[in-house]
Parts: sequence; C-alpha cells; structure tokens
Amino acid sequence: MRSIDTYDFAGKRAIIRVDFNVPLDDNLNVTDDTRIRAAIPTIKKVLAGGGSVILMSHLGRPKKNNDEKYSLKHIVPAVEKLLGQKVEFAGDSWGERASEMAADLKPGQVIMLENLRFYAEEEGKPRGLADDASDDEKAAAKKAVKASQKEFTKHLASLADVYINDAFGTAHRAHASTALIADYFPEDKMFGYVMENELKAIDGVMENPARPFMAILGGSKVSTKIVIIEKLMEKVDSMILAGGMTYTFASAQGARVGDSIDEKEMHPLALEIIEKANKKGVKLYFSPDALCGDKFAADAATIECPVKDIPAGWEGMDIGIEGKRLFADAIKGQKTILWNGPVGVFEFDKFSTGTLAVAEAIVDATAQGAFSLIGGGDSVAAINKFGLAEKVSYNSTGGGALLEYIEGKELPGVAAIRK
Ligand code: 3PG
Ligand code: MG
Repeated sequence: MRSIDTYDFAGKRAIIRVDFNVPLDDNLNVTDDTRIRAAIPTIKKVLAGGGSVILMSHLGRPKKNNDEKYSLKHIVPAVEKLLGQKVEFAGDSWGERASEMAADLKPGQVIMLENLRFYAEEEGKPRGLADDASDDEKAAAKKAVKASQKEFTKHLASLADVYINDAFGTAHRAHASTALIADYFPEDKMFGYVMENELKAIDGVMENPARPFMAILGGSKVSTKIVIIEKLMEKVDSMILAGGMTYTFASAQGARVGDSIDEKEMHPLALEIIEKANKKGVKLYFSPDALCGDKFAADAATIECPVKDIPAGWEGMDIGIEGKRLFADAIKGQKTILWNGPVGVFEFDKFSTGTLAVAEAIVDATAQGAFSLIGGGDSVAAINKFGLAEKVSYNSTGGGALLEYIEGKELPGVAAIRK
C-alpha cells in the first residue's frame, strides 16, 4: 500500500476525497470547522511535495442538482482561511469546466469541486422515482444509475493522477468518490492523514486498550446504539449509559419516566443488556437523577427529580446533581475512555451542565494519563462548545463511520484503499 509520507507528488494532480460535510448556520457560515481543520495537513503535504490538489466532498443530503443551500461554495472561504491560500471553486463536479480547471492546474494550486451528491451517481441510488413505481421500474432505474455511475466515477478519476481518501466520516459509504474511484488508481491510491490517524487511534483503543477501559454512551435512542453497546461490552470494564437512553432503561425496570423518551419496544433488549453486563462483570452506570424540562426547548422550565419518578408533563433532558457526581467519580482513574454521545441536550445551555461535567472529568483523567477518544458529531460539537477539544487525546471526525468501525464492520472507503 502506498503511503502519503513517501509518495512523490512532484508535478502530480491529486484528487482528495475529504469530508467537508460540516454544519452551517442560517447564513450559510460554517459553525464547526473540525473536519476542515483535520484535512489541512493532507492538502499541505501534497502541495509541499510539488503537487496540485482537487478537493471533492459531499455536503448534506441534497436530492437534486444545483440545490443552492448545499453548494460547497459556502465552504470555500473556511478552507481558504485554514489553508492560508486561494482555493478556486469549480462550480461543478461533472462537466467541461471541472475537466478544464483540473487540466490547467499548476503545482501548488488547489481547486474544489461542487457537491458530489448533486448527482445521483455519487451514491448510485435512483432519484425521482414515482411513489407508486413498480418493481420493474425500480429495477430499471437502479440499473440505469449504476451504469451512469461508472461514467461519473471515470470522469472524476480522469481529473487526477493520484487518489487520496481522507474522508473518514464518509468511509462507511460505498460511493463513487469514497470507494469506486479507487479502482482507477491501482498504483496511486492512498489514505490521507485523517484516515491514517483515525484508524490508528480507534484500532489502539479497540485492540490494545490500557485498563481500566470505560465507554460513555449517550444519544437519544437505545435502538440506534444497541449494536455498539453489545460490541463494546466485549471490550470494556465499565460503561456509562446516558442521554435519552436512560429513560428507556429505567422504564424497562419499572420506573415512571413522565414524558421522557421511552422506546417501549426496546424494553426486553434493555433488560437483556443489563443482564449480560452482570454476567460479564461489566459495571454499568446510569444517572440516578435527571434535570427535566416541561418542553423540548431552550427556555423550558426545569425540575430535578429521581429518574425512577418523573412526573407527567416533564421529560428528562440532562443528568442531575447526583448523576454528575457519580459519573465524574467513575471516570476518575480510567486509563482508556471512549465517549460517544452527549448525556443531555447540551445545545440548550440549561441542559448542558451534565455533558460539561462529563467532558471535564474526561479532561482530568486525560491529564492523569488516560487515552481519551471522543467521537460522533454531537460529542465533538459539545467538546468544542466547551473549549476543551485540545485537552482530550483524540477527536474523531466520524459519526456513523466511527460507530460502524467499532462495531467491527469493514468500511468500504478503507477497504477500497487496502485491497
Ligand atoms: C456524516 O456526517 O455522517 C458523513 O459526512 C456522512 O454523511 P451521510 O450520513 O449523509 O452519508
Ligand atoms: Mg451520517
């Protein structure tokens, strides 16, 4: 396998698949540039080696071409600022202009293609099918888009001499730009530094963790976290289960959880998880108390109460005082910490102090020598909001990709480079 560290980029055009799927505010300004910052060393490495760069990414989930809101032109200023040089926007990813601009590239120059998902071919899934389309029509549409996907992929590949995949956040998607394109560069494909660092950090945690090893899982629903909980149960010594999941676990054990999230169909599975943890000797921590709101809003009225007795009309939106103390004590002394998912609705200041307490405890443990890996868009956004990102060992740029990798799935973006 080629390595970005030893490859000779002199005079080469490198097409880099980055994950610039970043959050934007209503004025289309980037609100969290973690993913852009992460990709800068890879871009700089190519330029320093005498190459030129074609950046390509998706943004959001547009369903049609030229959907202004999803244009990558909104991202260009943030990239220019972090890179410290001009980035020419191609205005399209598939068409004459992209080809011409790529052909004209001089060493040291950078261009950025338009949102790849403006074309159905990026994902290879048909678009615009009528709701009542027959199975035959669906099959024909799928066949058609798979055929034109080959053309799209070939076009992207034609722009460059070398392919770098640095989009860890999108590595769980088998798309034209993340996986299929690699076939056109059998001798000239490689990971960028984001990919290399992510895989190294996660492999380190999963394969050879210093102990004790604790996982902290938040997020609203048990249903989306089941596989990861079960997988991590095989590895960790203890686990904090928090966020909206708390109330499903509590309700399964007979608690009265008011208007909190309660996935009743998950109750049997929740009880099974508790039993499995007992058998394995994995200690589970749940918050005994909750900070509840009377509505899901930043200005909700609040009460603190035991998780097992939340009045009707109130929903648990953060951990309470006892939960903060319990979690902070449990985190102290850990040697490996994996954190995915905030423990409360941290976007609302009133409900952010639980997540802050957890983040601060992780920072303390890290200062004492623990390796802390923070992953998933929300936890990274939280740690950025608190200004603590520099004080943990590793911030992953992956959400779904990180979870799938930890679950043990082969990521198409990783496999395409390695094979
Ligand atoms: C993400 O943010 O999850 C990645 O950029 C992938 O985006 P997707 O979930 O829309 O495929
Ligand atoms: Mg996603």
